[in-house]
Amino acid sequence: MDVIDTPLSARLKNETHATHDKLDRSIMDAAAFNTLDGYRRFLRVQRAFHGDIDALYADPALQALLPGLAERRRLPLIQADLADLEEGERAPAASAGPTADPATALGWLYVAEGSNLGAALLRKEAARLGLSDTHGARHLAPAEDGPAAHWRQFKEGLDGALLTDAETKRAIAGANAAFARVQALVDAELG
Ligand code: HEM
Repeated sequence: MDVIDTPLSARLKNETHATHDKLDRSIMDAAAFNTLDGYRRFLRVQRAFHGDIDALYADPALQALLPGLAERRRLPLIQADLADLEEGERAPAASAGPTADPATALGWLYVAEGSNLGAALLRKEAARLGLSDTHGARHLAPAEDGPAAHWRQFKEGLDGALLTDAETKRAIAGANAAFARVQALVDAELG
């Protein structure tokens, strides 16, 4: 089989580094965490992105690759955060979300799961707005086993996937598409 030696998780990190940096800067520059209204806009970005990928968490092929995938779903927490802040339900925005291709889907999930690492910082910012793990910032709460262990377990799944060269390229393209989607949402909501 035509597999690449570098673990998939490391390739995804290396090949999306610049897009992550840009996104991180956009959110910080928008000072989204300085006011409740800014934070609400950030939540709308999260709702649209997690709406795009929500079905992936219930996909049996992806669940077989990634143990505990179903429990990683965050859309319900984001919706509860929005309800805490009295933001009503909204029809999901039109999306160019992931296709049914599992390799592409792994790239999208990498972006969603990796964003939990940044969530530790954002949770502290949200606390300054009076928000918590039980009100308004539920989706930023750390996993029970701790963010580092939770992330390591996810990466083990990714790295065990043994993708072909072509599939690896599709996973990287999926991760970049996911970052591009979040960037577009941030530009629209926070720009
Ligand atoms: C202001 C907003 C953000 C900040 C401050 C931030 C910060 C961070 C930090 C500190 C890490 C950990 C780096 C490490 O331990 O190696 C990280 C990782 C990551 N973040 Fe963000 N982040 C932000 C937003 C986002 C968003 C919105 C997404 C995607 C939707 C995202 C996706 C990721 C990914 C995929 C990783 C994992 C990188 C890896 O492979 O190790 N981040 N982020």
